[in-house]
Amino acid sequence: MAEEVKYHIRLSKGMLQGAVYAVLPGDPGRVEKVAKYIDPNGAIFLAANREYTSWLANLSGKKVLVCSTGIGGPSTSIALEELASLGIKNFYRIGTTGVIQPDIKLPSIIITTGSVRLDGASTHYAPIEYPAVADFELTKALVEAAKDVGVEYHVGITASSDTFYPGQERYDTFTGYVPLRFQNTLKEWQKLHVLNYEMESATLLTLVSVFGLRAGMVASAIVSRIAGETPSDEELVRAEDNLSKVIRKALQIRLEAE
Ligand code: URA
Repeated sequence: MAEEVKYHIRLSKGMLQGAVYAVLPGDPGRVEKVAKYIDPNGAIFLAANREYTSWLANLSGKKVLVCSTGIGGPSTSIALEELASLGIKNFYRIGTTGVIQPDIKLPSIIITTGSVRLDGASTHYAPIEYPAVADFELTKALVEAAKDVGVEYHVGITASSDTFYPGQERYDTFTGYVPLRFQNTLKEWQKLHVLNYEMESATLLTLVSVFGLRAGMVASAIVSRIAGETPSDEELVRAEDNLSKVIRKALQIRLEAE
């Protein structure tokens, strides 16, 4: 009988060749680059459907899946469901982020220990009191990797919002209006020592804990909401390179420890 191919990600168990680690960028356009950075000579294309593009890489004698999630919680939840049912046990999201603390410089790396759940998808899996926390071992490997690579990094709490605009209190929108629920929230998160905004970690960290599996989260800071800065093209390339270096090293640490 032919193997089941998962509905959205179009992958089957056999295609993963025993991989238990997955790297999850949001952008399908980054999957090939990341897979080839991890494994310059042997990375192979597996599938592409909607926002889900997958490549398989080798590292330290083991297989690593790189699969995009698309933007935001709903599409991320689909990827997590289908990947978990194919045997993935460790999920590393890599992404981009906007920082909200004045002492964080661009480009630097943000390693998330836990997320403020400003998403909707995670509430379909666990009540809002349930924490969105990262796995300790996966996070430790990210910190060791960032030190080893020599990039500036910060470790702490992320606000993870379903929307890029109102949920992250942006006023440069079509209406220019931010609903009351989100007015002054940037200041509030800043006072509560939240480091940054992104859009998928609340869903990732909640669902993976609910599944009894493990997740880590690392992002490259490309916007400062305090300094109103955006990096140059050159800095953006450097930020992406830093992230690839950190995730490759973190995977190596984990794969060699197992
Ligand atoms: N991603 C986000 O969600 N917010 C930012 O400001 C930058 C990247």
